[in-house]
Amino acid sequence: MSDIPQAGSPHGSERTGAATSRVRGTFDGEPLEAEAGTSVASALIATGTRSWRTTREGRSRGLFCGIGVCFDCLVEIDGESGQRACMIPLGEGMDVRSASGPRTTHDAGTGTSTGRDADGTDAA
Ligand code: FES
Repeated sequence: MSDIPQAGSPHGSERTGAATSRVRGTFDGEPLEAEAGTSVASALIATGTRSWRTTREGRSRGLFCGIGVCFDCLVEIDGESGQRACMIPLGEGMDVRSASGPRTTHDAGTGTSTGRDADGTDAA
């Protein structure tokens, strides 16, 4: 028997036999489901969604740095705007909405927001 993890088992749970749990939410009203602990951004990418925010000028944004630095992945979660999809695990019943316009100046405590998009253009 192979020790190589099976496709769709990024944590090797199928190999070890560990149980996984799934969480279900919505994205713009459509079902969104992922393994517990998966970020909102990863859950969206898994569905084939590549962008979920637009700048004020209409340019598409989505996952860029994946580590909470660039603020390109902002979404609204349960009515709270300016949430970084790459930093928040999808939660059961979570209502995720796409965003448009400039990113927020709220930096969730990191102090890293610069007011510019990852491509260097003015986000405001
Ligand atoms: S992708 Fe950069 S902050 Fe989320």
